[in-house]
Amino acid sequence: MDSNAIKVVVVVGSTRKGRLAPNVARWFADHIGQREDMAVDVVDLLDMPMPNDLDDKDPVVVSLRPRLAQADAFVLIVPEYNRGIPGPLKTLIDCYNVEWEAKPIGFVTYGLSMAGGVRAVEHLRQIFAEFHSFGMKDIVTFPRILSHFDSENNFVPDLEGCNAAAKIMLDQLGWWAKALSAAKAIRPYRS
Ligand SMILES: Cc1cc2nc3c(=O)[nH]c(=O)nc-3n(C[C@H](O)[C@H](O)[C@H](O)COP(=O)(O)O)c2cc1C
Repeated sequence: MDSNAIKVVVVVGSTRKGRLAPNVARWFADHIGQREDMAVDVVDLLDMPMPNDLDDKDPVVVSLRPRLAQADAFVLIVPEYNRGIPGPLKTLIDCYNVEWEAKPIGFVTYGLSMAGGVRAVEHLRQIFAEFHSFGMKDIVTFPRILSHFDSENNFVPDLEGCNAAAKIMLDQLGWWAKALSAAKAIRPYRS
């Protein structure tokens, strides 16, 4: 692996009992794992319960902070809940600030409907504008998510189209991560 590999934190954005998110996250993290130019760190919100009072000294918040801070880029695995995002994911975002700032963000989304999570992503774009985080134009989306599982509950996305979408988004993420890192090396954000 390239020693200058872009550090990508993948956030598993659902904590629901019976959630599908780990299947989608595993598929996507494997994509990053195949690239020489990126290193992946998966943060599962189920293992990292964020405090509802947003206490920045909460032990879980404190323990996750360095992993988010060292990230050059993020990819959020996000299901659509009521045309928006799951509550625990919003709480995670609200528990941090500088850790998100001026970094590129990719979106992998899904839902039961044909909308495929697009409305959740548009919601996230608004939220991340607050941090000057930059959402990738192209996203990976799985409309009618259940149709991407076989009878034995294996996640079997239409590989050709989905692989292409993942590559497009990761290429964009890599370009922006490098560009923003170079800019910050010349002049730190908030200087
Ligand atoms: C509270 C709730 C609201 C939902 N709202 C939507 C929705 O607005 N659009 C949609 O396509 N699917 C919606 N769904 C379906 C979820 O996107 C789908 O069940 C998905 O598998 C949830 O992700 P998870 O299994 O990783 O938690 C909703 C599911 C829940 C639990």
